[in-house]
Amino acid sequence: MNYFEKWERSILASYSTPSIVLVKGSGVKVIDEHGKEYLDFLAGIAVNSLGHAHPAIVKAVTKQVETLGHVSNLAINKPSVDLAMKLLDLLQMPGGRIFFCNSGAEANEAAFKLARAYKPESEMVSVEGGFHGRTMGALSVTGQPEKQEPFKPLLSNVRFAKMNDATSIDSAINPKTGGIWLESIQGEAGVIPATAEFISASFRAAEHNNALIVMDEVQTGIARTGNWFGFEKFGVKPHLVPLAKGLGGGIPIGALAVQDSLVEAIKPGGHGTTFGGNPIGAAAGLAVIETIEQLDLMKHVQLAEVKIRELLENEHGVVEVRGSGLLLGVVLSGNYAKLVEENARQNGLIVNAVRPNVIRLAPPLIVTMDEIKEGMDVLRNAIIKSMEVVS
Ligand SMILES: Cc1ncc(COP(=O)(O)O)c(C=O)c1O
Repeated sequence: MNYFEKWERSILASYSTPSIVLVKGSGVKVIDEHGKEYLDFLAGIAVNSLGHAHPAIVKAVTKQVETLGHVSNLAINKPSVDLAMKLLDLLQMPGGRIFFCNSGAEANEAAFKLARAYKPESEMVSVEGGFHGRTMGALSVTGQPEKQEPFKPLLSNVRFAKMNDATSIDSAINPKTGGIWLESIQGEAGVIPATAEFISASFRAAEHNNALIVMDEVQTGIARTGNWFGFEKFGVKPHLVPLAKGLGGGIPIGALAVQDSLVEAIKPGGHGTTFGGNPIGAAAGLAVIETIEQLDLMKHVQLAEVKIRELLENEHGVVEVRGSGLLLGVVLSGNYAKLVEENARQNGLIVNAVRPNVIRLAPPLIVTMDEIKEGMDVLRNAIIKSMEVVS
């Protein structure tokens, strides 16, 4: 039995059967079970921020697992406190606090509970196309009906505004609103950047109605967009910031950052999770952040974006390149993104057809300019080949 057959016999089909078995990785390269090498321009969907098997993560995690792999929430472990302090510093949230968990969905769940605790019985507002996770609370604020439909009834009292429509978000928010879910770039909807007007209308209405802004940075956070966090470019200060994905560089960790004015909303016993703040995940998070600082990866990400745009914009079949830093959506001239994804993979490049007409690029932040050139050559050819098939 091969691994595709084994997968189909053992793994719940909540995903379609994958088309590749990966066994190894180093830097931006991954290798499948037949020894074929790929450039990984998806990085586990914006997770492997330092690529695969980065020495800083390997060292930090190895040292931590040899020293102290897990303690309960009844003891302090130093890496989690160090990481929390570092995150508050990067987020510029003096007096704020961090709740650690294991995933993006859990970070959003925590935000949901905090918003309710802050404003009892309040209603939530979110944005059409937005994605915040698959657990029932996070799903309730996810603006993608096809993901919600089979699991109804969800948490009620969630209103959805139209993305980038200031009037729509303004009329969705009222004095009963507790939390407003925003993304600086909607990754899952097809890499759609929020406009400055939309973000400021949301913050204005939040302030007016004493509601909290939950700025979900699960996909956009930790230098992915060329800033530590995607919201920085709007010059705003969100109340709650869910984080996950790139934070652990491949080791599971999630976090909710809570602004100083709200830290009293949750009391001891009000929320928790066994593995939250696990020292191995925290050690990985510290290694990721330190490496981004040491290598000045934020600057590199900005230059990498310029390079990718240069290589793709105005090319055959490319309508637009949108997004920021190394979270980019390549909008195609038709609904053939799946073909492009397949063709690219056959030719040694992993990318993701996030929408029928959009390819998502989210390579490791350490991707070199040569790797970008090589990858974009494959992508351009894949686009041309796929256009021929559909025409
Ligand atoms: C913006 C955003 N929020 C939340 C999530 C959910 O994170 P997780 O899959 O770790 O639960 C995702 C995952 O893609 C995401 O992109």
